[in-house]
Amino acid sequence: MNGSGETTAEPVYKCPKCRDTGWEEVKGENDYTFMRECSCGLLQRQKMDRKLKFAAIPKEFQNQTVESFMTDCYSTPQNRELAQMAKIIAKRYVEQFEEIQETGKGLYFYSSVKGSGKTRLAVSIANDLIRQKMISAKFATTLQILDQIKATWGEIKKAGPEEGGSEQQLVNDIISVPVLVIDDIGAENVKDWVNERFYNILNGRMIEKRITIFTSNCRIEDLKLDERIVNRIIKMALPIEFPAESIRVSLARKENSDLLDRLLGK
Ligand SMILES: Nc1ncnc2c1ncn2[C@@H]1O[C@H](COP(=O)(O)OP(=O)(O)O)[C@@H](O)[C@H]1O
Ligand SMILES: [Mg+2]
Ligand SMILES: [Zn+2]
Repeated sequence: MNGSGETTAEPVYKCPKCRDTGWEEVKGENDYTFMRECSCGLLQRQKMDRKLKFAAIPKEFQNQTVESFMTDCYSTPQNRELAQMAKIIAKRYVEQFEEIQETGKGLYFYSSVKGSGKTRLAVSIANDLIRQKMISAKFATTLQILDQIKATWGEIKKAGPEEGGSEQQLVNDIISVPVLVIDDIGAENVKDWVNERFYNILNGRMIEKRITIFTSNCRIEDLKLDERIVNRIIKMALPIEFPAESIRVSLARKENSDLLDRLLGK
């Protein structure tokens, strides 16, 4: 069916120039033809879609940008100032990413209170880098990384150590991601094997000068990880303090007080 409602044998293409392949045929001199990227931008969009899929950003945060991060929703002037500072840093970090990337320095967002916006802003930086600069970024919680590593142990038993999908391969893949958000790096004690893996991943990323953006509920120095890891993180990331305040709770309180005002006719 085409737009006028009649049936045609020819399928209807969104872009007749490339017939939705992304490549258009161009006639040069002497009947010589060649293919070039179609100006409809299909290839670019497909590339972007692949990047966004690879990024594995949780649904809740998928369309969040640094620009839409709110700073007036925190309840005290000090907290609003911390949030404004974090937002400005995030904005400039994206703007100046190409130069900063050479230094290998990432960011470390911390605050003792859950729901203060750390994950929100870290993910927004990744989103902006992907959409504005076509940079490959990936999101993973600390738990996800550990679960993926554990899953490779099962693979080895099933397939034999020489097969693909090995732990070493996974660690190498994690090391090679240009921008990695490691969400919720813990304040809890971890087992030796966890320290060992995190050391390998972070040491590899540090040597390769890959950018890592961390979120955590404690200061870098208070992380209950091996000292060697803590030292790597100090080297790899600029610490940024977040307000010790939950936006969810503040927004809920605000809604309640608005409702109360309405009910009492203020
Ligand atoms: N400054 C903010 N602007 C807009 N939404 C926010 C802000 N801070 C937090 N949120 C929202 O509040 C919820 C909790 O934020 P989150 O980033 O997960 O907190 P944290 O990682 O610090 O525990 C999320 O749904 C997030 O989108
Ligand atoms: Mg979080
Ligand atoms: Zn086209």
